[in-house]
Formats: sequence, structure tokens, C-alpha cells
Amino acid sequence: AQGWLTLGPLAEVFGDRACRSLKLGGVQVGLFLVDGEVYAIDDICSHGNARLSEGEIDGFEVECPLHAGLFDMRSGKALSAPLTRDVRSHEIRLEEGVLHLRLV
Ligand code: FES
Repeated sequence: AQGWLTLGPLAEVFGDRACRSLKLGGVQVGLFLVDGEVYAIDDICSHGNARLSEGEIDGFEVECPLHAGLFDMRSGKALSAPLTRDVRSHEIRLEEGVLHLRLV
């Protein structure tokens, strides 16, 4: 297992956006900011070569930009067709405004 990675101050990680994509420890991770909470899942869709961080957000759901499969950003759970596999959900810790992540 890997340890915690420090990503930096929340405001710097996200700027004025709600989604980011970062390559961390060889994994492309999608980061989502909803109501001040951060969620991290694998950014590459489990169905094809698309980035979830480029999809539409609706509540805690993110829609893959390629075939509109829905994932729950809190768990990585696949919620709709054509998805058959979840993506991984990574651990997030926010300490004094600084964001840390641990790959699962
Ligand atoms: Fe994401 Fe097909 S690539 S739903």
C-alpha cells in the first residue's frame, strides 16, 4: 500500500473549477469538488478511453463524456448502462485546507 500524497491547498488544486485530473503514482485520478467536499475516483472510465473529469456533474453523479455512463463519485460505483464495472475510489483527507490523497 502507498502512503498519503500531499496535493496542496484546496484553492490551488481546484482554482475556480469543480473537476481536476492529476496523474498520481502512475494513476490518472479525477478529483471532484461538491459543496466543499472532495471526492477522488479513477479518471479513466471503466468502459473506454474517456476522462470522467471532463464529464457533466449532477449532484454526486458524474456522466462519462463518451457514452453517458453514470458513476457515483463518492464510491466509484457504476450506476447505469453501458457500464459494467466500477472505478476505484481513492481516500481523501483535508487538513487545514490542504488536500491529501491515498491511492487504494
Ligand atoms: Fe465511458 Fe463508454 S467510455 S461510458
